[in-house]
Amino acid sequence: MKVVRVETYEEMSSKAAQIVEQQIQKNNRSVLGLATGSTPVGLYENLIQGVKERGMSYRDIHTVNLDEYLGLSGTDPQSYRYFMNEKLFQHIDIDLANTHIPNGKATSVEEECQRYEAMVNEIGPVDLQILGMGMNGHIGFNEPGTPENSVTHSIELEPSTRSSNARFFDSLDEVPTHAITMGIASILKSKQILVLASGESKAQAVKVLLEGNVSEEFPASFLWNHQDVTIIVDKDAYSLVT
Ligand code: F6R
Repeated sequence: MKVVRVETYEEMSSKAAQIVEQQIQKNNRSVLGLATGSTPVGLYENLIQGVKERGMSYRDIHTVNLDEYLGLSGTDPQSYRYFMNEKLFQHIDIDLANTHIPNGKATSVEEECQRYEAMVNEIGPVDLQILGMGMNGHIGFNEPGTPENSVTHSIELEPSTRSSNARFFDSLDEVPTHAITMGIASILKSKQILVLASGESKAQAVKVLLEGNVSEEFPASFLWNHQDVTIIVDKDAYSLVT
């Protein structure tokens, strides 16, 4: 795992954007794996700037997102589909038909998981997967205890994940209890993985990750089993590493 230390969130975001843009320059038909949450917002702002100011184009790019809340439709402002449209897709020249996110309103959750996994395998492998990390070490919504061979599945969110994500909702009660997420094995099939970690709230998770013990109890640790992972960490997130 390559560790890139930077000072600030802004620096992390612009370094991450450089890596994404290099991938697109190498192959303008790349498949990008994307995440939601606070961490990649600055990266997405940089990518939008890239289209407006640096002539970048996403015309033939495909994207797959890691996860979606169950029970929310894509038009719900709290859904990850809505988030991605707002924070990135509607500002760049991507074809929305080439952007993929699990359907949180599917009538059969099991069939939706199978469909999504098959779709990722069909258009994949993902060339570059962007990941944030939960304070409990989750990647996607693979909570502690998720096995390494997991593929796209539905899960019950941990109470700590729901409280942490409550900041995006009016109250904790509104945070969905379940989600669909790509599994650990689905994520590890990506050719290259870029993890972003920023802020004091991630310092403990970064410390545990960099200790290098691989265990189901800390799902991000499975990234040690992949040969091309880079983590960009800002000063605050690195502050507990000794
Ligand atoms: C989101 C996702 C999650 C987040 C993680 C960190 O699609 O897969 O694993 O990356 O919960 O969230 P933030 O960035 O909000 O701290």
